[in-house]
Amino acid sequence: MSFGLSRGKELITEGYGIELYDLPGYDVDDPESSRIDPRKWFQDYERHFEIEIGSGKGTFLVQQAGLQRDVNYLGIEKAGEFYRYAADRMRRRELENVRILRADATEFIRFRCPPELAQVIHLYFSDPWPKKRHHKRRVIQDESLRQFHRVLTSGGELRLVTDHDDLWAWYEDHAARHGDLFERRVFVAPDSAEDGELVGTNYERKFTHEGRPFHAMVLKKT
Ligand SMILES: C[S@@+](CC[C@H](N)C(=O)[O-])C[C@H]1O[C@@H](n2cnc3c(N)ncnc32)[C@H](O)[C@@H]1O
Repeated sequence: MSFGLSRGKELITEGYGIELYDLPGYDVDDPESSRIDPRKWFQDYERHFEIEIGSGKGTFLVQQAGLQRDVNYLGIEKAGEFYRYAADRMRRRELENVRILRADATEFIRFRCPPELAQVIHLYFSDPWPKKRHHKRRVIQDESLRQFHRVLTSGGELRLVTDHDDLWAWYEDHAARHGDLFERRVFVAPDSAEDGELVGTNYERKFTHEGRPFHAMVLKKT
């Protein structure tokens, strides 16, 4: 399915987009040697490092990376068209502190990332998968929460925003069940959010026009 994002223009990912299949393969016999440190994809790789899961058109990433030049941002987006659109946007803005990986974020984090690498994981307006038989496709699961806890640095944060009441209830249940891993905190908007916004992603702007209420929380690694 095409969303027609390019409007006939060539989308260039070079220098900003990373395809999973270009990375060294996963060795089932030696999972530890298959770890990849995405911080090394940045010139100044010792900086504070943040991951956004499901970046869509990359609006949050380009806004926030433009403001916080001393933080490296990695978006992980599984849909090829959105990945290409976001990478091209980063390239046109010549941002050196943002990259995007085309991959399933939960699998990449679980199987490929070393521990304690990110200060923040952002997850905004994640697909709600409303049908019960599809709940297993939601990004937040018991296992993904354990993995996010593993890759966050001490005191690191998982930041969640959704417009979807049932997904919000799911987040609240998971947060309550994993009180040993995370402490729930109030969500504070990042610098890139405009007045009245929680984050200022594409979906947030679209849903604001529809008058939908939003929910937000921060889960801080204990
Ligand atoms: C509803 S959109 C929201 C996009 C953006 N965060 C926003 O607020 O505008 C959800 C995005 O997450 C991506 N996505 C869903 N599951 C993912 C996963 N496991 N790993 C990476 N991307 C994922 C989808 O392809 C889609 O682009």
